[in-house]
Amino acid sequence: MQAITVRDRDAGLAGMSLTDMPYPHAAENDVIVRVHAAGFTPGELDWPATWTDRAGRDRTPTVPGHELSGVVVELGYGTTGLSVGQRVFGLSDWARDGALAEYTAVEARNLAPLPADIDHAVAAALPISGLTAWQGLFDHGRLTTGQTVLIHGAAGGVGSIAVQLAREAGARVIGTGRASGRDTALALGVDTFIDLQTEKLEDAGEADVVFDVIGGDVLDRSAPLVRAGGTLVSIVMPPKVQPKDGRAVFFVVEPDRTRLADLATRLRDGRLKPVVGAVRPLAEAPAAFAPGQRTPGKTIIRVTED
Ligand SMILES: NC(=O)c1ccc[n+]([C@@H]2O[C@H](COP(=O)([O-])OP(=O)(O)OC[C@H]3O[C@@H](n4cnc5c(N)ncnc54)[C@H](OP(=O)(O)O)[C@@H]3O)[C@@H](O)[C@H]2O)c1
Repeated sequence: MQAITVRDRDAGLAGMSLTDMPYPHAAENDVIVRVHAAGFTPGELDWPATWTDRAGRDRTPTVPGHELSGVVVELGYGTTGLSVGQRVFGLSDWARDGALAEYTAVEARNLAPLPADIDHAVAAALPISGLTAWQGLFDHGRLTTGQTVLIHGAAGGVGSIAVQLAREAGARVIGTGRASGRDTALALGVDTFIDLQTEKLEDAGEADVVFDVIGGDVLDRSAPLVRAGGTLVSIVMPPKVQPKDGRAVFFVVEPDRTRLADLATRLRDGRLKPVVGAVRPLAEAPAAFAPGQRTPGKTIIRVTED
């Protein structure tokens, strides 16, 4: 089968290419999915799990892209809950080969059934962004109705979903990003938008939850904006600066079949709309990863025509 592989950590993006790979093995409780569409997260080549297995052993060359939508073609030993021919979508294990491939092995519990009327390219945009946004806002951030949340990168993959979920939960939303993201963020429902290049982040005022997807200086400057008792949630790096009277959390998104099903329902109801900036073929995945090549929202890789 054909897959995108990354050769080794030192080469990084330069070591990414379209390659022939062996068809994957279905382990216990796995399914093999014929991938129709897949997504990736821009920073994943920096994550340890891209290069090593859970025991820390080198597993290169590896296949990136850990969110997918497709059709089950094989069940592993003892697998229940899904069947051959079923449409599914979900998040695959960060420490195994991913979904930028014609076939991928995934634990069945990490996938949810995909309703027939949802396009694979739309479904593939939901698992990482949708689960990360939900877990960041509500599980870690404990955001509730009437509170204020500041969401950095509000027009991006995770931020754009977080804005919609926070709005629906009845929160006041301050979004940040670059000038090019302003219109997208306002259309998604932010109450205020701060262009981090030309406006002062500190003018945003305090928030009960600050959700950071940028890291570095933006993350450091976010801690003082957390209201007493509030939470600074980061998905890029552990915060170095702690809120004076609040919590700081860094986390990596976890699979959740029930939440995926809930996100699919919101999508069908028109309450949630992933921002898909581009859909590109598998051979163009290396270009899609390149900094500066990305369009607002998610870039989705179409692996198999429906
Ligand atoms: N821990 C986890 O579980 C987890 C899960 C998902 C994602 N992540 C990480 O979170 C990060 C964001 O992911 P994503 O999919 O949302 O990425 P994305 O689609 O690129 O969104 C990031 C947004 O932030 C904006 N931005 C970035 N740097 C900025 C700066 N210095 N000033 C102003 N705006 C800036 C981007 O604008 P431009 O597009 O104009 O640059 C974009 O709108 C990535 O590093 C990813 O790897 C972590």
